[in-house]
Amino acid sequence: MATAADHFTVDGYAFLRLFDKKKLESRAADKFQFRPNDVVVASFPKSGTTWLIEILKAMYGDWGLLKVGHSESAIFLEEQTLYSSYLGKIRQHVVETINIDDLPSPRLIYTHLPATIFPCQALKDKGVKLIYICRNPKDVVVSQYYFWKAFIKGAYSTGSWEQTLQSFQESRLQLTPWVRHVGDWYQKGIKDNVLHVTYEEMKEDLPRVVDKIAEFLQRPVTKEDIERVVTTTAVDAMRNKLSNLAFVDEGMVSEGENPFVRKGTVGDWKNHFTVAQSERFDAIIGEKVKSVNRNIPYQ
Ligand code: A3P
Repeated sequence: MATAADHFTVDGYAFLRLFDKKKLESRAADKFQFRPNDVVVASFPKSGTTWLIEILKAMYGDWGLLKVGHSESAIFLEEQTLYSSYLGKIRQHVVETINIDDLPSPRLIYTHLPATIFPCQALKDKGVKLIYICRNPKDVVVSQYYFWKAFIKGAYSTGSWEQTLQSFQESRLQLTPWVRHVGDWYQKGIKDNVLHVTYEEMKEDLPRVVDKIAEFLQRPVTKEDIERVVTTTAVDAMRNKLSNLAFVDEGMVSEGENPFVRKGTVGDWKNHFTVAQSERFDAIIGEKVKSVNRNIPYQ
């Protein structure tokens, strides 16, 4: 079960012991050398990060990692700057062999860091663009439950559904409190370098979101590009594509499971929350959401 022992807190956020506390406290990610044409995807884990990355990959095939023949398209900021150990040999190999400073531009970077720890000033100074993806927290917590059941077998467990839900509400899961994570990123606004998208709007009308992203990045896409994005990032297409999970060590994921592409639907929470659980969640999280931003998806 997720306990306080699995985490430490920095700036009020829970971090798994995979992170180096000193590096977090000294804001080591600030040393990351951004370039003006870098693009960053930011999210609370299980909000549709992988999907958004695949969308950007299908929109533009020229990301630095792809150009050097790497199967991944995005650099994970925390792994590069804040970890004390790696999620296995493959991840260690990735960090040790990819020289991010030598990668051709444009680079696609992703992060789950809270806005108060992410190097926001560097983002502004260099004019880097960031897309923050947000999702109904009830679906996020369901997705988290299945993720930790399937991923890093045995190393970290969030327990039963009820226990996972409770840990989320009590900010004992990685990167919680969720409301603050989302709220801090929404405070960054959309005027400057940050575009906010939601998982729900992507499910509802992906072409419209792709257009919005293209406009934000000032890199136009054609009708054919949009059609390709829709086809190649459909849930089943992505599940097949990412089925072998070549980026984690063998045995880390339960047989037949894909922790990054599971059901891929809106409202799966209704199959998991009891009425009492939903009411409690509304009282603890829902009430706060309203005061943070009206655009945050919540049901
Ligand atoms: P579920 O567990 O609810 O299915 P992240 O990439 O941030 O870890 O988010 C994972 C969530 O995004 C999972 O949600 C996963 O199934 C969903 N997802 C991944 N690819 C998707 C796609 N192509 N379309 C819709 N949802 C997708």
